[in-house]
Amino acid sequence: MSVRKSTNSGTMSSPAAQLVLPHIAQMAGYVPGEQLAGDSIVKLNTNENPYPPSRKVRDAIAAACEDLVLYPDPSAREVRECVADLYGVDADGVLVGNGSDELLSVLVRATTASGQGIAYPVPTYSLYDTLTALQGARAIRIPFGPDYSLPAELAAADARLFFLCNPNAPSGTILPRADLETFADRRSDAVVVIDEAYVDFADESAVGLVERSPNVVVLRTLSKSYSLAGLRVGLALTSVGLARQLHKVRDSYNVSRIAQAGALAALKDQAAMRAHVDQVRATRTRLSVGLREMGFTVLESQANFVLAQRPGEDASGLAERLRDRRILVRYFPDLPESLRISVGTDGEIDALLKALAEILSAART
Ligand SMILES: Cc1ncc(COP(=O)(O)O)c(C=O)c1O
Repeated sequence: MSVRKSTNSGTMSSPAAQLVLPHIAQMAGYVPGEQLAGDSIVKLNTNENPYPPSRKVRDAIAAACEDLVLYPDPSAREVRECVADLYGVDADGVLVGNGSDELLSVLVRATTASGQGIAYPVPTYSLYDTLTALQGARAIRIPFGPDYSLPAELAAADARLFFLCNPNAPSGTILPRADLETFADRRSDAVVVIDEAYVDFADESAVGLVERSPNVVVLRTLSKSYSLAGLRVGLALTSVGLARQLHKVRDSYNVSRIAQAGALAALKDQAAMRAHVDQVRATRTRLSVGLREMGFTVLESQANFVLAQRPGEDASGLAERLRDRRILVRYFPDLPESLRISVGTDGEIDALLKALAEILSAART
């Protein structure tokens, strides 16, 4: 088990650093994936959906633009009711956020004081480290084993809050629902967050746990399966009692009228979302097979990305060579043998596989 308080980015010495709290000055900020755009860029580094959102979203947003003099509904009631219908949960147990990142931040602020523990298996979504450091809390990072099953020590961690990213990023692997259920029961004294940002690409969701475990929060986002990363809408599904507490922590008008209108239209058009998810799942299989044929080890992914490993070799050079060809993939220094590759369109994946084959063959000669 490794316990990390914060990451020192060496910024303590600047005059501005003296103006903020010492633990903020000491920590490194979150580094999002590069957001280069342009027709000639094949962008496979931040797990966006390569397909457009439902056409109904644009019309709903246009209509919402007529009403911008008024504040939005503070609790996004219509969106909450739609989510409740979709998942068979109580609308009063749903929160809507400015992306699920905001809801993660609300959860940290609501549950964990400075010095208290927040636990999660690693490698995982690196924002958990950043939010923990911002709060001055203790990160309890427990390494996954090679099969990415739930590490046995996790349940014993001295933590107020647990993050279980499921499917996990960057591995794409999924924990069985039964294991999550056992874990939530065992740690009924803490909040257990199941971050399901990628679950629409998976075979199974744990959303049913919300009904039986009042300490479970299931997080969803419209950024991935609904193709709306730019709209910034996330959802938290939990017990009514816990939701009431969490509402106190978020900004009163945290989701704009435009975002609420777009989210409602997207959630109502399940067929549009499903069609694109099915296409991404099919391309994911092609991508995994293609990478394996080239000698990569590829974990079975339940998400819209794959983790491709070249055991014993550093993958940073490969990421650089791809970048030279305007193909962006994600390289994590903590996982030096791996590249995380988002599932793009079939054409984008063909371009990636061709480029990789050429780079690898040039390296051999
Ligand atoms: C595991 C995980 N959770 C949450 C998020 C944040 O999503 P959102 O765009 O809703 O803030 C991401 C985004 O990449 C993610 O990978």
